[in-house]
Amino acid sequence: MNFKKKILCIGAGYVGGPSMAMIAYKCPDYRVTVVDINPERIDAWNSSQLPVYEPGLGKIIKKTRGKNLFFSKDIEKQIKENDIIFVSVNTPTKTYGAGAYMAADLQHLEKTARQILKYSRSSKIVIEKSTLPVKTALTLEKILSSTKGKIKFEVLSNPEFMAEGTAVNDLENPDRVLIGSHETKSGLKAQAQLIEIYSRWIPSNKIITSNLWSSELSKLVANAFLAQRVSSINSISALCEKTDADISEVALAVGTDSRIGNKFLRAGIGFGGSCFKKDILNLVYLCRHYALNEVASFWESVVKINEYQQEHFITKIVDSMFGTLAGKKICILGFAFKSDTSDTRESPAIYISQKLLAEHAEIIISDPQALKNAAIDLAGIKGNIKYIDDPYLAAAGCHALVILTDWDLYRRLDFRKIYLSMVKPAFLFDGRNIIDHQKCFSIGFNVYPIGKKALTHL
Ligand code: NAD
Ligand code: UGA
Repeated sequence: MNFKKKILCIGAGYVGGPSMAMIAYKCPDYRVTVVDINPERIDAWNSSQLPVYEPGLGKIIKKTRGKNLFFSKDIEKQIKENDIIFVSVNTPTKTYGAGAYMAADLQHLEKTARQILKYSRSSKIVIEKSTLPVKTALTLEKILSSTKGKIKFEVLSNPEFMAEGTAVNDLENPDRVLIGSHETKSGLKAQAQLIEIYSRWIPSNKIITSNLWSSELSKLVANAFLAQRVSSINSISALCEKTDADISEVALAVGTDSRIGNKFLRAGIGFGGSCFKKDILNLVYLCRHYALNEVASFWESVVKINEYQQEHFITKIVDSMFGTLAGKKICILGFAFKSDTSDTRESPAIYISQKLLAEHAEIIISDPQALKNAAIDLAGIKGNIKYIDDPYLAAAGCHALVILTDWDLYRRLDFRKIYLSMVKPAFLFDGRNIIDHQKCFSIGFNVYPIGKKALTHL
């Protein structure tokens, strides 16, 4: 088939796979190829067992894979063949050298740029989809223009705003798509090409254009603002626990002010996921780089409150269980960093599990999708850990239940049945405030929510 556009994405991860599947789905006359240096990832995308769990994604892949969506290991060939290249490689926090544990590690991005330069035989549009520090496009441009030749590369920024667990809906009906470009003739021409792709299914008033640097920075700032809301409500949850105020009532009263809004005001054990912490730290690092130390400290406090929230939760567990967890069995319900994903990157469950093990508790972990990743995250950690799919089997014989992920299925559990199978007094720590606390208290549990009065029989 003669395809109208040939699009490549380098990086077949949580973003590259779903976002390209959506383009292929909405644009059947475009050929979309996704490549990765990790051959197992590509094999998984080509199999019935996709490498990421994302509701609704399987259907879209089924409709497009092998028709106009392809997953390939041949990076060289694909760079040669495609005219528009999205770059969606990982940009984790650096763990070594200058800027360790703060700055973004841009080695994968730089390697990708060098690959593009090496294998390109024609001019191309290169689109940053990864989340990057502001001014990264300048680095890309320097690398891509380092051999003087006829081939030209136009760099655009098109950050991704999808969230895991809702990626399909976010990609299909985004609040906005952001495209940053140089305000030059060639920059605007490249921008128009990208607008043409998104216009296939996204209304024009939702396609925002800006200069390159605003686009790069807006992505970091959007994540920082979202994380800041979570830390704000979590900080107030601690105050609620001291004052008999109820965090859900406060969140409702505050969030109904249309200037504030009601989203991202769910108090819990803190935010996880691969991006919030890394992107804020990246922002903090940038501010320090520009000697904006007060600004840096302001954003750093968002991460500090997040760490405090997890610490506070662990202290609550230990204190309420009579000061010792040694030899006690604790059932962890949920290991993913949020519901509807198998992703456990930076999940609060990792830190909380480690802390419980350090208190010599025995932990039994249950999660509908994330047990494989949980086992990888906790490999090599000393202590007694079991992984059990069925939440009822996992809870049987335990002293406490600890809810760490807001999976819908936990709302519907038969807590009477669970209570009967547990050691008494039975404790329930709801780290996500998702279950009916009063009902569980009436069943017999000693219930400890977040930011609300504990309900105990003790
Ligand atoms: P990921 O780790 O799941 O995927 C990145 C992929 O890139 C990996 O499979 C890796 O093997 C591949 N890769 C690395 N270097 C490569 C190279 N030189 N050539 C080919 N492939 C290479 O990461 P992700 O979660 O998809 O995130 C990618 C980027 O998108 C990050 O910058 C992240 O901050 C951003 N982002 C992520 C999300 C999310 O929900 N996960 C949402 C918005 C933005
Ligand atoms: C987040 C952003 O929402 C996306 O817009 C962005 O594209 C993405 O990061 C990214 O850049 O990677 P994601 O991390 O997938 O998406 O999930 P969120 O829904 O934002 O949740 C993040 C964390 O905050 C989760 O641990 C969640 O449980 C927690 N959270 C969220 C709360 O504790 N309370 C809330 O009210 C909302």
